[in-house]
Amino acid sequence: MEFTLNVWRQKNAASKGFFETYKIENISDDMSFLEMIDVLNDQLILEGKEPITFDHDCREGICGMCSMYINGRPHGPKKATTTCQLHMREFNDGDIITIEPWRASSFPVIKDLMVDRSSFDRIIQAGGYVSVNTSGNTMDANAIPVAKEDADAAFAAATCIGCGACVAACKNASAMLFTSAKIAQLSYLPQGKTERQERAINMITQMDEEGFGNCTNTQACSAVCPKEIGHHHISNMNAEYFKASLTAKK
Ligand code: FES
Repeated sequence: MEFTLNVWRQKNAASKGFFETYKIENISDDMSFLEMIDVLNDQLILEGKEPITFDHDCREGICGMCSMYINGRPHGPKKATTTCQLHMREFNDGDIITIEPWRASSFPVIKDLMVDRSSFDRIIQAGGYVSVNTSGNTMDANAIPVAKEDADAAFAAATCIGCGACVAACKNASAMLFTSAKIAQLSYLPQGKTERQERAINMITQMDEEGFGNCTNTQACSAVCPKEIGHHHISNMNAEYFKASLTAKK
């Protein structure tokens, strides 16, 4: 297969970006999208040009690093699929493909297709954990019974890989789908209930401080989420925040 790629190039957050066009040939339809960019980078290096910077880690749909806009859609055309799990057979031979970084002021471009998503880390640091007393004997793993439906709901929320596609797709650059999933995965479980009020307040406060916008219910976030995180988490989070703001200890 062969493709024409319009790729966003940008030196750093302060510089202006631009599209550069590349032709690429002999691409197997079994290659992943990232492997196709690897081939392009090999080609650029051989030509003495600078390779394209992009994020990746697991290449198995787990880590959420492979964040990029492909033809105007986060992670490309295939539903519920990360960029690393997208294969070139999803495209037609001869296609023109446009590749851009996430566009949100809370995700500044580091270089080319790589953006800084440490704002998500700070939201997690603000409350996305359960405090556990580690002194004394190790507690039996099954000492606290968890109802099956709660375990399933928590697990479904925990499948969020924090890729940021929700923010990139939202016209308000809202991080509410991400934050609500991270709040839900803990608050559904008995272990997470003790700190649930402080967690909701602290994580939402941090989300606002990072400059993310608010949800206006267009549901673009869930539509592009590679893990199909449900939009209902946002209403649950708002209810959680409302209750916590009435009763939480300062
Ligand atoms: S590289 Fe880890 S999810 Fe794509």
